[in-house]
Amino acid sequence: MEIIGHRLDNPRRLYSFGELLLLPGYATMSPREVDTSVVLDGIKLGNPFVSSPMDTVTESDLAIELALNGGFGVIHRNCTVEQAVEMVEKVKKFRIPEGGEKAVKDARGRLAVGAAISPLDVDRAVALADKCDLLFTDVASFHNAKLIEGTKKVVKATGRKIVIGNLGTAEGVLHSIKEIGKENIAAVKMGMGGGSICITSDVSGVGSPCSFGVEQAALALRELDLLDQIPIIADGGIRHSRDIAFSLGLGASLVMLGNLFARCEESPGEKIMKDGKPYKVYWGMGSAEARKKRLVLDRYQDFGKGKKVDEGIKMHIPLEGKVSDVVERLSAELRVTMGYIGARNIREMKEVAQIVVKTAAEEKAGVK
Ligand code: IMP
Repeated sequence: MEIIGHRLDNPRRLYSFGELLLLPGYATMSPREVDTSVVLDGIKLGNPFVSSPMDTVTESDLAIELALNGGFGVIHRNCTVEQAVEMVEKVKKFRIPEGGEKAVKDARGRLAVGAAISPLDVDRAVALADKCDLLFTDVASFHNAKLIEGTKKVVKATGRKIVIGNLGTAEGVLHSIKEIGKENIAAVKMGMGGGSICITSDVSGVGSPCSFGVEQAALALRELDLLDQIPIIADGGIRHSRDIAFSLGLGASLVMLGNLFARCEESPGEKIMKDGKPYKVYWGMGSAEARKKRLVLDRYQDFGKGKKVDEGIKMHIPLEGKVSDVVERLSAELRVTMGYIGARNIREMKEVAQIVVKTAAEEKAGVK
């Protein structure tokens, strides 16, 4: 298998979501009949939406609302182990209102929730493993000897399957599966440098936008005949419902959303007013603001003595509304796409989606 171009005379073509279009397909159902549910490590979600483990995105309140609306929250790790456990317990203790039929639940009927860990912090992983439903390694570039070794230790200590990431290449996916074992991987999370608050690629010149990363993971998993067994999560730079559709069409089963959930009332980001309009404060986990707490320092490159390069920025994003409103909008818009291309469910998205790359001429002709 050709993995990735190493030479300038054979560069791989990178594209961003803005350059893509899905071709219309033969539809046999209406968007209302479309099924957007997906299974992540045995947990059934009504919508393929997972929230980013960031301290301006996912704490208990957002995780509760997301699970009530068919999604899955992942508690951040920019806090002490005790605080992370407390946040997970708050979600688990939440009493699901009568009629909460959309709620995503664990086997005991409690709301489902995940938690971020560092592969280098086995203690945090052990403390959270039995309290939450799924552990997510939360590092900028998982394809790293120390992080893969650390993850093996986490698997051994917790006996749990882990969501690994982030990765950007087919090579990284193949290597990680070989090292960690397919039976220990709950999903692979793809994308590096593409996040809305991310400046990793500007600083380092390194990156793999999640559109490209997802395609790479799909190549690797198809090669191993594991595409139906290990779900791909697209992470970073998803701003519109169409980006969700492109990700699913390229091979992802779920998307991780930071910006789109940071703009919800229930996110922990501070609410501020500018020119009479409400905004939420959103920052990257590699930003100076997030690093002040000094708890996610191992997410990024370390130069010793606490010296760090900024890999994230802070921004103000317009407050959109409640999690329920945002999920409802994204889900409805995704159904419209699925209706147009003729995909009855998320699995069929991968099979029927025909994605084309727009040329500069088409851009000029007004294809938006
Ligand atoms: P968004 O949905 O485009 O805002 O991207 C969110 C994703 O960006 C997260 O899920 C992380 O994978 C990634 N991320 C979070 N913080 C940073 C950072 O400071 N630098 C680079 N990437 C980040």
